[in-house]
Amino acid sequence: VNLVPNSPDAPSPRAAREPWLPQSGRVELRPGEVHVWRVDLRQTTDDVRATLSDAERARAERFRSTADRTRFIASHAALRAILGDCLDVAPSALAFGETVHGKPFVAAPEAGRAARFSLSHSGDIALVAVAVGREIGVDVERVRPVADLDGFAARYFSRTECAALGRVPPAERLRAHLGVWTLKEAYLKACGEGLTRELDAFDVTVGDAQPRLAAVRDRPGDELRWTFARLELGHNAVGALAAQDADWSLRRWRR
Ligand SMILES: CC(C)(COP(=O)(O)OP(=O)(O)OC[C@H]1O[C@@H](n2cnc3c(N)ncnc32)[C@H](O)[C@@H]1OP(=O)(O)O)[C@@H](O)C(=O)NCCC(=O)NCCS
Repeated sequence: VNLVPNSPDAPSPRAAREPWLPQSGRVELRPGEVHVWRVDLRQTTDDVRATLSDAERARAERFRSTADRTRFIASHAALRAILGDCLDVAPSALAFGETVHGKPFVAAPEAGRAARFSLSHSGDIALVAVAVGREIGVDVERVRPVADLDGFAARYFSRTECAALGRVPPAERLRAHLGVWTLKEAYLKACGEGLTRELDAFDVTVGDAQPRLAAVRDRPGDELRWTFARLELGHNAVGALAAQDADWSLRRWRR
């Protein structure tokens, strides 16, 4: 995986500190690139609701809390705006379908069917990943206290992952656990089955600068089929991206 600066020029010191660049102009989807947008869900307006489908508006109405409803609307409106921009169609003209396991895909317009996307939201942050020619999955988790980290790990992670997490210094344990969680979710979302797969059937590496699948017991060979990137989101959140194969570079945008 190549982490390339967003600009073709040498990265400025500022770009090195802030990898999420404001988008200028339309993003063109190319086979060797995966684009991820970091979306601040507080920056939303009431009129974005109009771009959603009836089904999305009905889902929004089912949230009891106004804050959750607003964040759902903002994340789905951002997804539509981003995909609409990439595919050069109006956000409201997009139609989505769902696989049997619930993975959403672009059903219309026809020209957009080759695009792949993944959405994740946690607190005020959403991540939207978009690519062509490969499956992708993205996950974000807000950093918040977890009362029983060992219990959390024992419930969701493999024995190898638990053992590796047990060696992490106390000050880094929470983020390390959330890091493992986001890598596993990103991979499951890329594969499309969500939590119908057993979470302890595969191991991700712990603490590696370049994380990877170390072993996939229920699907041998996946270790070489999928690659990861950690997504740097500051103190308040942890994020990860999984994508098919290794011949891609990452572009990061914010909005
Ligand atoms: C749905 C799931 C794929 C991810 O859910 P999540 O981490 O709670 O939520 P995220 O915001 O990261 O992702 C949700 C988005 O994933 C997408 N999604 C749903 N099912 C999917 C699937 N099978 N494959 C890929 N993407 C999927 C949708 O775009 C969804 O957005 P929406 O609900 O606003 O329409 C699945 O792994 C799940 O059910 N997770 C439950 C999480 C859990 O149990 N956590 C407990 C410990 S923290």
